[in-house]
Amino acid sequence: MKKLLLLVCSAFVLQTAQADEGMWIPSLIGKNYEEMQRLGLKLTKDDLYNINHSSLKDAVVQFGGGCTGEIISSNGLLLTNHHCGYGAIASLSSVDKNYLDNGYWAHSYAEELPAEGITALFLENIQDVTSEINAAVGKSKGDKAAKKLDEAIKAMEKAAAKDGKLVANVKEYFNGNQYLLLTYKKYTDVRFVAAPPKSLGKFGGDTDNWMWPRHTSDFSMFRVYANKDNEPAAYSANNIPFQPKKFLPISAKGEKEQDYAMIFGYPGRTNRYEVSYGVDLALQEVNPSIVSIRDARLSIMRRHMNADKAVYLKMTSKYAGIANYWKYYIGQSEQLNRLNVVDQKKQQERVFTKWSKKNDEGYDYLMSDFAAMYADYKPYAKHTTYYNEAFKAATLSRLAAVCAPLEKVLIEHPEKDSIDKYIKVLKMVRTPSMKEYDEATDKELFAEMTKMYFRDVAKSQHPDIFQAVIFKKYGDDNWDKTFKNYTDYVYKNTFLMDDAKFEAFCKNPTLEQMNADPAIQYALSFVHNFETYYQPKLDEFAKEKKKLSKQYVRGLMDMNQGQKFYPDANSTMRISYGKVLAYEPQDAVSYKYFTTIDGLMAKYKPGNDEFDLPQDLIKLYKNKDFGNWLDADGSLHTCFITNNDITGGNSGSPVINANGELIGTAFDGNWEAMSGDIAFDKKYKRTIVVDIRFVLFLIDKMGGANNLIEEMDIRR
Ligand code: ARG
Repeated sequence: MKKLLLLVCSAFVLQTAQADEGMWIPSLIGKNYEEMQRLGLKLTKDDLYNINHSSLKDAVVQFGGGCTGEIISSNGLLLTNHHCGYGAIASLSSVDKNYLDNGYWAHSYAEELPAEGITALFLENIQDVTSEINAAVGKSKGDKAAKKLDEAIKAMEKAAAKDGKLVANVKEYFNGNQYLLLTYKKYTDVRFVAAPPKSLGKFGGDTDNWMWPRHTSDFSMFRVYANKDNEPAAYSANNIPFQPKKFLPISAKGEKEQDYAMIFGYPGRTNRYEVSYGVDLALQEVNPSIVSIRDARLSIMRRHMNADKAVYLKMTSKYAGIANYWKYYIGQSEQLNRLNVVDQKKQQERVFTKWSKKNDEGYDYLMSDFAAMYADYKPYAKHTTYYNEAFKAATLSRLAAVCAPLEKVLIEHPEKDSIDKYIKVLKMVRTPSMKEYDEATDKELFAEMTKMYFRDVAKSQHPDIFQAVIFKKYGDDNWDKTFKNYTDYVYKNTFLMDDAKFEAFCKNPTLEQMNADPAIQYALSFVHNFETYYQPKLDEFAKEKKKLSKQYVRGLMDMNQGQKFYPDANSTMRISYGKVLAYEPQDAVSYKYFTTIDGLMAKYKPGNDEFDLPQDLIKLYKNKDFGNWLDADGSLHTCFITNNDITGGNSGSPVINANGELIGTAFDGNWEAMSGDIAFDKKYKRTIVVDIRFVLFLIDKMGGANNLIEEMDIRR
């Protein structure tokens, strides 16, 4: 699951967190180890995480900033999801050499393709720095405390980075009740090695996304390269395959229900300690807004992508990301309602308040403070969502909005250094944006999003451009015509999308040029309006939420002393352990824990966008040419499920058996538990995994990439 409060779902899950629920910190696995053993784990604690000798953590990386990958050979071969490599594969593809459609299999190092921008982050160390941070903040309060905290973190990160040799981050855990310092080595020469055709790697498309039963072969392979000292280095033809401290052996034996399963990875964000008022806000304001904005964006993009293959390749990665979280928010709302999460949380909050009052714990008013805070913010929540999701949807608006700090500098202190700095930022945003820019699509997005903003955001909160310019000068007999007229004018007269004019502006940027540019004028009207009136409300809300959430988590821990707690996901390495496990999605229906190639073939719809299959695969199926990748039951398994606790960011994570061997790659969650980031439901929550034997079958039989098979340590 590519990237996005504890617990307390059915009667304080956090109190009784076991096996399946929990994203545990690898260096603090202590209390969980016995439970892991009870579930079947054969490894020692040191095999999982150790900083003095190699351990499983050394084989797991954060891939490309928002996913997870695992090293599966002594030569730096890396496995992740297809949807994690998607952007890189699309950028390497052209209409003639379409690796996205046709798949790609490197048969030698020489055929491995530099994947610009892709990084692999290897965790070196985790250190608890809570007492140092608390000492630095001391008794300060409010903004002063925030400033001291910020300074202490920056100083600590700077010292730990060892002059840029390492990446160092201090991260908050348990909503600010604990701080850990994490150090990493960041490898930037990462090359594309292999992927199946998109029809397999994204099989089922948005229809099957976030759902079980699943048949997607969601994998791609890359290789990490290093300099001759095995250290990170920018791409160079002289770099050599990275030699890892640890790589994962692979089990081709197959898994049975109830087998131990463990996942290492980089979950992005959960809100398991969210209070009922926050869930209400999501259900009433935020989620429906995101879904309706994305509905409109997707249908515009889809029409243009389907009409032109080159446009498709430009925009497909962006489209997939928007679609993934469009469906996510639909599912989250559906399951929050079905599982009565608001009521569950309210019940827990009552218990908490009662406990505080009875024991004089000092949290008596925490829940009413939360209620007041959400009530204050609610009238502006929709605006924030529309600002980020609708206003910034068109490439032109997003880029024009980046001109705001430049404008400020030109007005307030037009010194060369600060001007240069913001021109650099503008270029940094523009260059990648232009790679996915299609003018016809962008114009439609611009018109539609401006219209939706006008229609859906409270009139009293609008920027003045609507009345002062759009309706005044371009007003027509209906809104569609009005916004279209205005859009035509903006795109015709802006210099931002014209390379030569843009470069000329960058050489000598002036306020006059900015004021005369209709796109910049448009964007600045939105930015000024938001930053003057609504950003302060958002900041206040975020600050207060942080303060109250910290207290709430502290309080829950006080109330449930002796219980194991795990912190919300925060894009740092976590371990989840549990087992291979089937489930019953609804009354009278039961799902098996695995799918097979027969099921894949049964979903086949020739020529369909989501359910087509490559001819090579159909031939292999007809000839029953499955190599030695069959299960003991005689079928080729495609995917399976476990009850591990993962979320967006875990995409590509290794699923590891009791012996420390790789049995698959996690790539999704299931529909019935889409509320899982807010409340983990033990009955329904499952992780969807590509069976490693399906991966090996495709590498072997479809890719004929024996070089890769040979390179791995495959055990039977
Ligand atoms: N839902 C998956 C996740 O977030 C991504 C699946 C990508 N496939 C797709 N059809 N959009 O991890």
